[in-house]
Amino acid sequence: MDIKKERPTILFCDSGMGGFSVYRETKKLLPGWHYLYCFDNAGFPYSERGEESIVQRMLAICRQINAMHPLDAIVIACNTASTVVLPVLRENFSIPVIGTVPAIKPAAEISNTKHIGLLATKGTVKRHYVDELINKFAVDCQVERLGSTKLVEIAEQKIRGHSVDMTVLKDELLPWVNIMDLDTLILGCTHFPLIKDEIQFCLPQVKHFMDSGEAIAKRVQSLLSEIEIKSKSKKYNQIFCTQHFDEELKLKQILNLWGFESIDVIKIN
Ligand code: DGL
Repeated sequence: MDIKKERPTILFCDSGMGGFSVYRETKKLLPGWHYLYCFDNAGFPYSERGEESIVQRMLAICRQINAMHPLDAIVIACNTASTVVLPVLRENFSIPVIGTVPAIKPAAEISNTKHIGLLATKGTVKRHYVDELINKFAVDCQVERLGSTKLVEIAEQKIRGHSVDMTVLKDELLPWVNIMDLDTLILGCTHFPLIKDEIQFCLPQVKHFMDSGEAIAKRVQSLLSEIEIKSKSKKYNQIFCTQHFDEELKLKQILNLWGFESIDVIKIN
C-alpha cells in the first residue's frame, strides 16, 4: 500500500495549542497528510482538571470528530491527558491511538550528571504513570519534578502572538535556578517546547532538553504504514475548538501560518 497516495486523516488533540509542538514534527515528516487539530479551550487548562473529566472530554471530542471525518489515527498531543485517557480511547476506537509520554528514558540516558528535571503540568508530575516510568527508566538518576500551570498559560499566550513575561517565567523556575548540576530537562508538557528558548535563558546550566515530538512523528508513520487507510479525504486541514475564542480573527491568521484553513466550534457536554 502506498500511504502517500492515500492521504490519511490524523487528529491531534490537546487542551490548547501546545500540541502544535507534536503536530509540527509530524507534519515535517509527513507533509501531505490530512491534519485535524482540536483544542479543548473550554476545558483548558488540563493542569487543574480532574482525571475523569479529562477522560470524558477527550472521548467526546474524538467521537464527534470521527463521526464527521472518519479518522485513521488519533494523537493525544498532551502529556496530562495521555497519562489517563489512552486505555479508554483504545477500547473505543479500532484505529491507532498514539499518546505523548514524558521523555524520561532518553533523558536518563543522555544525562552525564544523572540529575534531571521533569517539567510538566501539576497533574502529570503526580501521576502514578510517571512514578512507574521513573522507576523503570531512571533509577540511577535523581529526578526533580516541577508542575506549573503558569508556564502552560505563558506558552499558550506566546503562540497567540503575546510577549512572554520573563519575570513570571523566572519565578516559576526559581526552585531549579541554583541546582547547578541539573543538566537535562524533560519538557513533559507539549506546551513547553514552544517556550524552550525562554526556559533555557532562565536555566543556563541545562544542556539537554528532551521532548517527545519527533518520536511521535516516527511512531505515526510506522503505525500507519501497517494499516489500510479508510479516509480518502481531500479536505483541507482544519481546527476544532470547544468554545469561541476572543481575538478570533487574529487567531485565524496565526492558525493559517501553522497550515490550517478553518476553525469550527464543537460542543462538548
Ligand atoms: N499541553 C498539555 C500537556 O501536555 C496540557 C496543558 C494544560 O492544559 O494544562 O500536558
